[in-house]
Amino acid sequence: MAYTIEVDGLTKAFGDTRVLDGIDLHVEAGEVLALLGPNGAGKTTTVRILATLLAPDGGTARVAGHDVTRDANAVRAAISLTAQEAAVDLVLTGAENLRMMARLRGVKQTVADELLERFDLVDAKDRRVEKYSGGMKRRLDLAMSLVVKPQVLFLDEPTTGLDPRSRRAVWEAVQTLADEGVTVLLTTQYLEEADRLAQRIAVIDGGRVIEEGTAQELKARLASEVLEIHFADKPSVRVPVNEPGDVRRALDEHLDAERIELHQPSLDDVFLAVTR
Ligand SMILES: Nc1ncnc2c1ncn2[C@@H]1O[C@H](COP(=O)(O)OP(=O)(O)O)[C@@H](O)[C@H]1O
Ligand SMILES: [Mg+2]
Repeated sequence: MAYTIEVDGLTKAFGDTRVLDGIDLHVEAGEVLALLGPNGAGKTTTVRILATLLAPDGGTARVAGHDVTRDANAVRAAISLTAQEAAVDLVLTGAENLRMMARLRGVKQTVADELLERFDLVDAKDRRVEKYSGGMKRRLDLAMSLVVKPQVLFLDEPTTGLDPRSRRAVWEAVQTLADEGVTVLLTTQYLEEADRLAQRIAVIDGGRVIEEGTAQELKARLASEVLEIHFADKPSVRVPVNEPGDVRRALDEHLDAERIELHQPSLDDVFLAVTR
């Protein structure tokens, strides 16, 4: 079957530093994939290559059926990107930013008004963006990338630095797009965000995809259960439990344990285990 995003063995080095070391990704039409990884894992580099902003050294990447190197223009026509750094003009108002984008993309000005409404920016539309909160800027940024509804949307850390309320607003916007059938690749450092928005999660670390699957599959792959050991005078620790002897071994190692609990593994456990 043809994937909407198909990445095989993608490599990229900056100078002597190999930042991408053979990335493989396959995203179906209408799917939301979260690229989850710590700072410096190679998330932005991957997104920049897929959005044709950066040339890869090796491997292949196809987006919406087009090769990002050979058919960059066709890829650009099919995608939209909300970058990690805001791409809005700070001295313009929200409405002016959107109307300018509508003019550039050759769509009706009413699209700008619809987007202001949809992203809860009507009250702020005539204020300069430099006066916006972080959450408002992010919502405007997202609105800007949707002036023309893309086939594929790349979101690079869409909620990093946002307060919980703004984060929820962005999540709802992404969810709506996904419901409309837009294929989304989002990067995040937040497990909660990956779990909430994405059908599948690819964990990236050291320039490679080291785990991939649904949140459930990732949890199941880690361990059947996790033992949480509490102490009187230091932070608790979590230990994966795969076979009966594991509990005894963990307790033998932590004779000063005060209390223990058995849990289903959380996505945090998965993340810590695979990126350690
Ligand atoms: N243009 C560049 N020149 C040199 N090094 C870079 C450049 N862009 C990114 N890097 C390095 O590549 C690594 C991965 O960066 P990046 O893709 O931004 O990671 P992430 O988005 O996951 O935090 C980091 O070590 C970063 O410093
Ligand atoms: Mg980044």
